[in-house]
Amino acid sequence: MQNVKLTDAVYYVGADDKTIDLFEGQYVVPEGISYNSYVIMDEKIAVMDTVDRRATDEWFKNLEQVLSGKEPDYLVVLHMEPDHAANIESFLNKYKNAKIVANPKTFNMIPQFFEHLDLEGRKVIVNEGDELVLGQHSLTFVMAPMVHWPEVMVAYEKKEKILFSADAFGKFGALDVDDEWDCEARRYYINIVGKYGAQVQTLLKKAASLDIQKIFPLHGPMLTENLGYYINKYDIWSSYRPEDKGIFIAYASVYGNTKKVAEKLKELLEAKGAPKVAIADLARDDMAEAIEDAFRYDRLVLASVTYDGGLFPCMENFIAHLKSKNYQNRRIAFIENGSWAPVAAKKMKAEMENLKNLTFLNNTVSIKSAMKDADIAQLKALADELLSE
Ligand code: FEO
Repeated sequence: MQNVKLTDAVYYVGADDKTIDLFEGQYVVPEGISYNSYVIMDEKIAVMDTVDRRATDEWFKNLEQVLSGKEPDYLVVLHMEPDHAANIESFLNKYKNAKIVANPKTFNMIPQFFEHLDLEGRKVIVNEGDELVLGQHSLTFVMAPMVHWPEVMVAYEKKEKILFSADAFGKFGALDVDDEWDCEARRYYINIVGKYGAQVQTLLKKAASLDIQKIFPLHGPMLTENLGYYINKYDIWSSYRPEDKGIFIAYASVYGNTKKVAEKLKELLEAKGAPKVAIADLARDDMAEAIEDAFRYDRLVLASVTYDGGLFPCMENFIAHLKSKNYQNRRIAFIENGSWAPVAAKKMKAEMENLKNLTFLNNTVSIKSAMKDADIAQLKALADELLSE
């Protein structure tokens, strides 16, 4: 994406990345990712964050075009993660009069990434509620610790009522991809920020006192209308409430027998009129999407083969992710398989027992090796319980 004039004074200078193999070292992004960066042109010129080092050249090129020979006064650093902060040093080396605007936690972190960067005389330290006047525009800083790192802050520009929201309201997907916001914003949120629901709730409460007409995040599209829709989604996700009524079946299968059981349950649920049943093969499907679906729906069925007296590794991994993201407030059922000593259900339950407000269903399905006609009754009973309110 070329530089784009977003408002009279604010320009986009970020970049799309459609060749990255794994975003943040673990997430597949089939539609790429955007590293957003903005420039506010006023009496003083402020650049809002840099970009990942994969996009350095494009960012400087976009920046140069917008600056048209002028010198930036400030680089505002809302977030130190390298997908945004990688070019702090090269920016300061290029623009010798520019200063960094950041909070004390950010300034503590900068030397961890840039050992030889001399910030003497180049620091503007801001704290909660501080204002940076650029001319007609000004930025007020609001601390947003753990959304998604401890140093994160957001900035509110009051003339144009823009919230520069850092990672909040971000989304996987390059900007030139025309896809639905919810799906990739949810996968992004649950996996990347999901652990910090309480901190997002705090930020939403602070944001509620601001008159926000535009949200400019660090990834994904700039949000300029219907903001209540996006804020409501963030409220649901960060309060760990299920977003949709539905059943998500996540299975771990070695030879396909546990998979058959999971698929049979799906078939039975649909035959009984379940409005939405999603299913995932934890060994093959995108783990981040499986985690997203576990959070999206109000009921979860875990189906695992017993393996080495425990769980098949992809199920163990899935549950570990759920725990690390503070999974809670859902109804859970278990299906286990085992050829000589099925213990998977017991193991899965033990792993999840300490999570907040989970309701474990009474019916647990236990299969020996392969599903047999006699097992269908167990599955039907589980389907009935899953569909009872
Ligand atoms: Fe997009 Fe937390 O970095």
